[in-house]
Amino acid sequence: MAKAKARKLKLEAQDGEGEFTPRIDVEIAGIHFQNPVMTASGTFGYGQEFAHLIDLNRLGAIIVKGISADPLPGNPAPRIYETEAGMLNAIGLQNVGACTFLEEKLPFLRTLKARCIVNVFGYSTEDYVRCIEILNAGEGIDAYELNISCPNTRCGGIVYGSDPKLTEEVVAASKRAARFPLIVKLSPNVTDIGVFARAAEAAGADALSLVNTFVGMAIDIETRRPRISNLTAGLSGPAIKPVALRLVYQATQAVRIPVIGIGGITSAEDALEYLIAGAQAIQVGTANFYSPDTSLRVIDGIRDYCLRHRLHLAQLIGSLKHGVNGAGEH
Ligand SMILES: Cc1cc2nc3c(=O)[nH]c(=O)nc-3n(C[C@H](O)[C@H](O)[C@H](O)COP(=O)(O)O)c2cc1C
Repeated sequence: MAKAKARKLKLEAQDGEGEFTPRIDVEIAGIHFQNPVMTASGTFGYGQEFAHLIDLNRLGAIIVKGISADPLPGNPAPRIYETEAGMLNAIGLQNVGACTFLEEKLPFLRTLKARCIVNVFGYSTEDYVRCIEILNAGEGIDAYELNISCPNTRCGGIVYGSDPKLTEEVVAASKRAARFPLIVKLSPNVTDIGVFARAAEAAGADALSLVNTFVGMAIDIETRRPRISNLTAGLSGPAIKPVALRLVYQATQAVRIPVIGIGGITSAEDALEYLIAGAQAIQVGTANFYSPDTSLRVIDGIRDYCLRHRLHLAQLIGSLKHGVNGAGEH
């Protein structure tokens, strides 16, 4: 009886929809990813911290906490504050430094099926280059992600990612030094994202990722003091999603290199919006703090959607239609 039912179901599947296995793998900057879902820098430690919570081998990539040439202690507490639908953070880029990363963190990461992307930052162009030169020795690194939302202390503290000339300078120097492909992570705190996307592309970026956090602040009205010791902090989480989605869409329109979408993704539906807008892959950030299995649910949800719509991921990317629902075909 059970066998007959199973045979009937199989026949129905063949008759009706037919068998279809969607492909959700992607290639970005010459690297093959088993799926388009990555964990965002600074929200997933060095990967190993999450090994007891989820199957890391299922992820498209792990992007590790920002690494600098020398270790950094970060800012004093309080450095995190929960907001409506998001969080503010001013961790201050605390990290173990490039040498310790190679010795203590990378050996675990290279055992995984997930790709390993190392997020790099500095406070001068020389810092970025020095960090990359150390990391170039790392077997198992698949790409660098350059965090350019940092002030250039040699240039009056102007944030690299808010000045097109500084963006070009740091990207060109990093690209020259880098042994692995270079993904440039753009700041959203600019008036025209296209200018920065094109500057990074012109300077040799292999791909872009965006967005980093939006500069914000919060005040305790009883003490009339800032909620975060640094005064200003980066806003992330669902609160930023619509703005981040718009920026990602505009960046995809401005350049030919692949774009990776980041900002407030908590579900497959969120991720699908970015992919339809033109992102080739996405990153999950803040959601890792309260729901560490978010990335796995996003992978499953993207596959289910592709199956339901009988699409391979490549057919979905950038498939945004014009005109709103009701103004033509849905
Ligand atoms: C606590 C925290 C630490 C972060 N650290 C880094 C970092 O070291 N380097 C970096 O490029 N981005 C860092 N980010 C930014 C995230 O990678 C991501 O771009 C941002 O949070 C937006 O995505 P989300 O809304 O999904 O969190 C950090 C974000 C948070 C919340």
